[in-house]
Amino acid sequence: MTARPTLWPPAGTRLCRRDEIGDDECRGFAFGEGTERFEMFLVCKAGQVRAYVNDCPHAGTPLDWQENQFLNHEKTLLLCGTHGALFRIEDGRCVAGPCLGRKLTPMPIRIAAGEIRLD
Ligand code: FES
Repeated sequence: MTARPTLWPPAGTRLCRRDEIGDDECRGFAFGEGTERFEMFLVCKAGQVRAYVNDCPHAGTPLDWQENQFLNHEKTLLLCGTHGALFRIEDGRCVAGPCLGRKLTPMPIRIAAGEIRLD
């Protein structure tokens, strides 16, 4: 088993209720402050919720161009607002832009009793 990166919140950390994120929606989360700050987001597509670290593999900036806005206009791909890289929702792979072929870092989540938590 791979060790969890040190800034990741612990397993079991509550993110939100499942009904707070609908299809074609995203939600960003931030934990900690300063150099300890950690950001991640949830994306929901076709009823499936996935989580990624909010850190573009191109230049290391957050992807969202506005609060909770991580999708392109068509809501088919994740979009980095800094230089426009596009990532597949299902696996985080970059399919266009300056980090083509690289991937967002997925995070494990679990959904139980109507709540989404880190796993
Ligand atoms: S930082 Fe995301 S595309 Fe450049």
